[in-house]
Amino acid sequence: MTNIFIGGAWPYANGSLHLGRLASILPGDILARYYRAKGAQVLYVSGSDCHGTPVAVQAAKEGVTPGEFAGRYHAEFVDCFSKLGFTYDLYTRTDQPAHHTVVRELFLKLRDNGYLYKKTTLQCYCERDQRFLPDRYVEGTCPNCGQPARGDQCDYCSALLDPSDLLERVCKICGTPPVLRPTEHYYLALSNYQSKLAHYVDTTSGWRENAVRLTRRYLQEGLQDRAATRDLDWGVDVPVEGFSDKKIYVWIEAVSGYLSASKQWATETGGRWEDFWLENPGNGSQNPDIRAYYVHGKDNVPFHSLIWPAILFGAGGLHLPDQLLACEYMTLEGQKFSTSRNWAIWVPDILSRYQPDSVRYFLVANGPEKRDTDFSWREFIHSHNGELLGAFGNFVNRSLAFVNKAFEGLVPEGVLEPQWDNNIKVLYTKAGEHIEAGQFKDALEFIFSYIRQANKYFDEQKPWIELKVSPVSCGHTLYNCVQIIANLANLLSPFIPFSCDQIRSFLSLEEPCWHSISVPAGRAIHGLKLLFDRIDVNRIEEETALLDKQITGSH
Ligand code: MF3
Ligand code: ZN
Repeated sequence: MTNIFIGGAWPYANGSLHLGRLASILPGDILARYYRAKGAQVLYVSGSDCHGTPVAVQAAKEGVTPGEFAGRYHAEFVDCFSKLGFTYDLYTRTDQPAHHTVVRELFLKLRDNGYLYKKTTLQCYCERDQRFLPDRYVEGTCPNCGQPARGDQCDYCSALLDPSDLLERVCKICGTPPVLRPTEHYYLALSNYQSKLAHYVDTTSGWRENAVRLTRRYLQEGLQDRAATRDLDWGVDVPVEGFSDKKIYVWIEAVSGYLSASKQWATETGGRWEDFWLENPGNGSQNPDIRAYYVHGKDNVPFHSLIWPAILFGAGGLHLPDQLLACEYMTLEGQKFSTSRNWAIWVPDILSRYQPDSVRYFLVANGPEKRDTDFSWREFIHSHNGELLGAFGNFVNRSLAFVNKAFEGLVPEGVLEPQWDNNIKVLYTKAGEHIEAGQFKDALEFIFSYIRQANKYFDEQKPWIELKVSPVSCGHTLYNCVQIIANLANLLSPFIPFSCDQIRSFLSLEEPCWHSISVPAGRAIHGLKLLFDRIDVNRIEEETALLDKQITGSH
């Protein structure tokens, strides 16, 4: 069977996670859980992106080391991911020796293979702050579309920029216009890869449409070489003499985390990273025994679709991304998430009051998979009450409670009706296809349409009447319901693992698998309780008011 590599985007360790960010990385865990249930070998890695100027600047302001500062958020991320049930095989961080070693090796390989060259250019230097300014610290006007932009990328038109391209440049730290000063750097020869990358993009399938569209555009515009080192003091050292005051460009280094984390995982567990990375020797095409998924937000597209493949090409023999699952943006009550205005739902905060499955469910059912979507407290609470509790929880509870009451808590005798036998098989196949293609919302909707059918079956069979007329047919109905529930605990386990685990304990089921299972008559139901509590709809107003307060309170 194909080995599945899943790389989840590495969140910046310079602030808490908000729901929009979480929405872009959650699909990684769904894939990992699904493929493990299917019996595949899975390697799912990520970590905290700890380098970069925002971390260094913020740490300096607080008088702590950048590592300490990043460590605070790293610990918070680890806690959030664990509460949300993320099943990373390794969640690490970029400011660790294991990562630095791999990055330096890759860098030297790229240089030796002729993909890195040295060049002196003029770069933005702030005379007031006495430093070269990192990309994001130069702000100005996008030369491409005329909108305000940062020095690395225009959020408005997605143009990839160099800070010196910006018009009306100012230093983000102090607001003075920077001067240009000569400095020597290594450059990644992206333009040399133009045709190789174009071919790669043309022959790949399974990227989200947005990733393909954006990448084609970059290719059409012609790839520009990019500085691979920067004038910084927090990051991965450049392993070349004369570069001691410089670091490797944060994006080149961060994406390399996918490989470094895989190697670190192998060292720590005795696993084989090679099984997820190495191409068949001599064979020019992608190793069909490996499938590599990358899960990230739309603003990460060029780094995963061009820069990372370029690095992998340059290093040679390593498996390129097969599927890029780039998601769109999520808004909050109709407005853009804004960290600076504190207009955000922070993950630690929502997890302190709501079940992780409610958050996971919402982010899949209403997440920005293919188009921008909105989070509102109204939708969130209604989706919990209506779908999770109203459709799914209710079916589970009324069926199992009925077995408890009418059959002394033992699964009654029955035969799986052909209709349900068929439905269940179709569900595994169809939902599996959707998941593999990165269509998580479709998979979930598909499963939920069957949950509605199951509720209808219960309503139409009327077991409470059957019990009086024919206990045997009543038992048969409940037997069918129990089989549906047991299979739902498999089918929904990638999405809402906590409630599926609960069902597993009610029915003494084994670990999730991706094929139909049956529960024998006579099996005892243990410790039944409600999967979900109803959320009082008054909470909608309370939460919305808190959100409004949060924003004003932040000033
Ligand atoms: N830190 C980046 C962000 O939050 C993502 C980095 S993904 C990586 O947008 F692969 F480059 F690490
Ligand atoms: Zn622009």
